[in-house]
Amino acid sequence: MVETSRASTRPAPATPDPPFSERVRACFSSAANRYEGSARIQRAIAWRLGHLCRPLPIGPGPRADLGAGTGLLARSIALHRPDLDLLRLDNCQALLEQGPQGSDASAPLLWDLNSGLPPQLGGASLLASSFALQWLEPPRTQLEHWGSQLAKGGWLLLAVPCAASFQQWRQAAERAGVPFTGLTLPQAPELIAAAERRLQLVRCQRLRFSRRRPQALPFLRELKAIGAQASQGGQLTRAELRRLQAHWMEGPSERPLEWEVLLLVARKP
Ligand SMILES: C[S@@+](CC[C@H](N)C(=O)[O-])C[C@H]1O[C@@H](n2cnc3c(N)ncnc32)[C@H](O)[C@@H]1O
Repeated sequence: MVETSRASTRPAPATPDPPFSERVRACFSSAANRYEGSARIQRAIAWRLGHLCRPLPIGPGPRADLGAGTGLLARSIALHRPDLDLLRLDNCQALLEQGPQGSDASAPLLWDLNSGLPPQLGGASLLASSFALQWLEPPRTQLEHWGSQLAKGGWLLLAVPCAASFQQWRQAAERAGVPFTGLTLPQAPELIAAAERRLQLVRCQRLRFSRRRPQALPFLRELKAIGAQASQGGQLTRAELRRLQAHWMEGPSERPLEWEVLLLVARKP
């Protein structure tokens, strides 16, 4: 997202861009050793999901943290429910390696979730996922697939940032006349409808988190620090970044930056 070249116009790429999912993996990989120290919202949400898992009557069958990264969610669930053993799936080896190791730790599985779930998760009793579904292509189809793979009585525990996030960033980009380079996030109503096709919703909340981010560049660096800078929107040139920065705090952008997070707890009937 933050370009290193000094050019102010957009040079034509010398080689074609790699597929989006490969760029996502490369970004997370390069930030793997900083992830745990910088992922504050993700840590808070993982804690909340772990807490929500505590009273659930979860039967036997495979269980997994999908897009587990370093395992913030798997660890939170283990804290609240030491009886549950979760497989940690991710396509980023470097992040999986940052997670807990050893015989007590939940098992890691290197897996690209854009290919659906691995066969060993058929008839799952718990599919948990936090801040990962938005990276998949397309999120609502993957979510419906997850629902289809749960056993009768199996649980989905999900948190995912949605499209109402970052309105202030969009408005600043519009005022600055530069492209919005954030990730295209899924629409919450579409995800809710996809989940309802297979599952009964026990909890469905659209949470709002706001944080003061008075300057554009430190915020964009924050995204980069956890490897979450890949987007379909490309990169801004230095000149565009300066324009974005100059328009960041005008008008409605003086409001704090907001994340909309869809939180679902749902059961397969
Ligand atoms: C923001 S991190 C969230 C990690 C963890 N769930 C947490 O809450 O800290 C997004 C995760 O999704 C993973 N991810 C993105 N695309 C993926 C894919 N196609 N297959 C598997 N994992 C993917 C990334 O590697 C990363 O670990």
